[in-house]
Amino acid sequence: MAEQAPRLRAHLDHIELNSPDPAGLAEFYQRALDMQLEELGGGRWLCRAPQRRLLIAKGSRKTIAFGAYAVENAALLAALRDSAARAGIAIEPSPTPLFAGDAFAVVDPDGKRIAFGVPAKRAKAKPVKVLPARLQHLVFGSDDVQRVADFYEHQLGFTVSDRVFDKRGRLTNCFLRADRGDHHILAIFPAAEKKLDHHCYESIDWGSIRDWSDQLSSRGIPIAWGPGRHGPGANLFIMVRDPDGNWIEVSAELEQVAAERPPGVWQSGPEVANRWGQPRLSM
Ligand SMILES: [Fe+2]
Repeated sequence: MAEQAPRLRAHLDHIELNSPDPAGLAEFYQRALDMQLEELGGGRWLCRAPQRRLLIAKGSRKTIAFGAYAVENAALLAALRDSAARAGIAIEPSPTPLFAGDAFAVVDPDGKRIAFGVPAKRAKAKPVKVLPARLQHLVFGSDDVQRVADFYEHQLGFTVSDRVFDKRGRLTNCFLRADRGDHHILAIFPAAEKKLDHHCYESIDWGSIRDWSDQLSSRGIPIAWGPGRHGPGANLFIMVRDPDGNWIEVSAELEQVAAERPPGVWQSGPEVANRWGQPRLSM
């Protein structure tokens, strides 16, 4: 049995979505989330606002090129790279221009690419007043949740906050965090195919959920699910869809977890997705 990886300390820094129309999708994120746009060349767009940024590149709709987790400094990054290599993971070149040169990437059992790095210094975006929401977590759908969750926990050092099991005792959802803090920075949900489920921006409180709902709807972006409160993580949420069909979550009051908290166990049921009852409709 391979040794357990040291506990990861990282946060979600950015993602890269693929789209058949990167410019059009970037304009949507500008309108929805007040992001400033910058064309990086090759049809790739950087969308950014305080505490949130994403890349959009040419590719198939509803797919993610990679998720990018930032670690605090070069020493932690080197230790993570060493432990990943010791765990037998192939180390690949970094796919992102937003991390410094020593960043790297790994590929999970479902083929999802994850970059780790220290953010590169960039010219600051124009200071603007926008509603607060920091890019916070990423969720993948998988037809083998156990295998993918094991990879992130045992080989990369993510810490499990909560597991959800069905009546037959199979793992259906797994919520993973860094060693402490946000309840999850990554989660794996059940799906018939391996896919991106959603990405999430964490705001402040119930009032900010109201403000985001008002802003999004006034800009012609209807709330597609919520408001509600999730089971694991207990966060308030709303969800909207972008023009490609990607689900975007705005949440608030996500549970903050101490390093020593043992993993929680849930039985699958409607209260896992929404304690207030309304289920998510079609994906
Ligand atoms: Fe979420």
